[in-house]
Amino acid sequence: MRVIVCNDYEEMSLRAAKLVASQIILKPNCVLGLAKGSTPIGLYDNLVKMYEEGEIDFSDVTSFNLDEYYPLSPDNDQSYRYFMNKHLFDRVNIDIKRTHVPNGLAEDTDAECLRYEGMINAVGGVDLQILGIGQNGHIGFNEPDANLNTITHLTDLTKSTIDANSRFFEKREDVPTKAITMGMASILKSKKIVLLASGRSKAAVVAELLKESINTNVPATLLNVHNDVVLICDKEAYAGMSLGIDIGGTSVKFGVVDGLNEIVYKDSIPTEKNCSDAEIIDSIADKCAEIATKFPISSVGVGTPGLINYETKTVSASNLPFKNTPLVKMLEKKLRLPVFINNDANCAALGEATSGVGKDVKNMVMVTLGTGIGGGIIIDKKIYLGRGEAGEIGHMCIEADGKKCACGAVGCWERYASATALIEMTKEAAEKEPDSLLAKVVAKNGADGKAVFEAIEKGCGVGKAVLDKYLNYLAVGIKNIVNVFSPELIVISGGLSEAGEALAAPLKEKLGSNVDIQISALGNDAGIIGAALLCRV
Ligand code: F6R
Repeated sequence: MRVIVCNDYEEMSLRAAKLVASQIILKPNCVLGLAKGSTPIGLYDNLVKMYEEGEIDFSDVTSFNLDEYYPLSPDNDQSYRYFMNKHLFDRVNIDIKRTHVPNGLAEDTDAECLRYEGMINAVGGVDLQILGIGQNGHIGFNEPDANLNTITHLTDLTKSTIDANSRFFEKREDVPTKAITMGMASILKSKKIVLLASGRSKAAVVAELLKESINTNVPATLLNVHNDVVLICDKEAYAGMSLGIDIGGTSVKFGVVDGLNEIVYKDSIPTEKNCSDAEIIDSIADKCAEIATKFPISSVGVGTPGLINYETKTVSASNLPFKNTPLVKMLEKKLRLPVFINNDANCAALGEATSGVGKDVKNMVMVTLGTGIGGGIIIDKKIYLGRGEAGEIGHMCIEADGKKCACGAVGCWERYASATALIEMTKEAAEKEPDSLLAKVVAKNGADGKAVFEAIEKGCGVGKAVLDKYLNYLAVGIKNIVNVFSPELIVISGGLSEAGEALAAPLKEKLGSNVDIQISALGNDAGIIGAALLCRV
């Protein structure tokens, strides 16, 4: 089953309409299978618009609807015939005689079912079948049952379907309890099937569908035997969850991310360093397999430090046992799921751009202030990789003959503006001014990234001077980034971002109002969410 996940109902409706339109353009005398319900209304509206704009012509199209309530007159405003006339047939140039809906008033329902099935066969079957899906997994009115009926038949509606349909009727007692519906075989013999699902209420059943197993208690899962089905759904209905993995120096974090880009489950294992790459990947794969027994995982995304070759999908990292390790291939072989990979800082930027402070902007740069300075560049909501290593902002030179960096170059930004650099400055100042409040904080708690902020809070002038010098360096680099990318937003993350406004407010003052700076909203979760979302960008 091919899956297209759309942002919302409107996008889903348009994508579906484009598929139906191409079918009509390719074969003007095609046979369409149509559905009633709240889901396809947007699709029908789009088809009407395309017809009005002269893009499609329904004059040779034949249609068969999936079902009709029984007993119900076609004139009743709750009948499926009435719905189809109102939403589509009366608004386009289809020949009404070529539109078919089971007769909800048939006296002999067996004969009506045979007649309907015979008519579908007589025109050579349905070319393109549109389906909605019930919360209980029904398609058409093929309700969950140990024995599914194959051809068009009269059926009793289940309580859950009657409950769901009661929203269209004044009183629950008015909802018909029976319907004539195409059977599973009638549906499955269609040449192509487009299944639509929208909204949170369909997420559970879509998750069942995506497990790709067949279960007559969720009739839609039978679509998994058809070779040309496309599921078009919005994010809320898409429960094909992704597993995001964030490989760090001390732990490997795992998070299951749902269609709303929210983490629904978290786990972690310690990072084993004194082992081979195969061993570390084995332990990651074991944890993934364990999580996949609890959630319908459809893909895995990995954020890793180090250098990634995006062609061979191999990783080399100095503080992990990865040396040209084919991480993607090894995980895919073990998990039998598609695996995506990207740099951990890029993943964090993507996570923040999708679900964090960057969710309303298209272009942003994330600056991660930790041991070094990491970065992630997001352009048009996508990770910008350049030739593969874009985003290494910590190694832009801000001092031509400055301090030596571990990368071999001199004057790299991270030597002056990382958390490590702030700690160095703190230590130096504390040594130089042993009577200062800063020196006292350092003597008590040690020189860490928090010391300077604690000292400032207590009114320490030395601490203030240290932060000011540090922020000058930080601002220089950020100005360079702004000059090159002109992003809508700069997001500060990493250990130092925990200082929050105590860091952001004076930094904003140095940068002026042209630059929008915000502290990461997701913290460590950004990397997990971004990794999980690699499959969708
Ligand atoms: C309609 C049909 C049903 C609906 C399903 C979803 O012809 O056969 O299977 O597709 O009940 O209904 P909505 O779209 O209202 O959620």
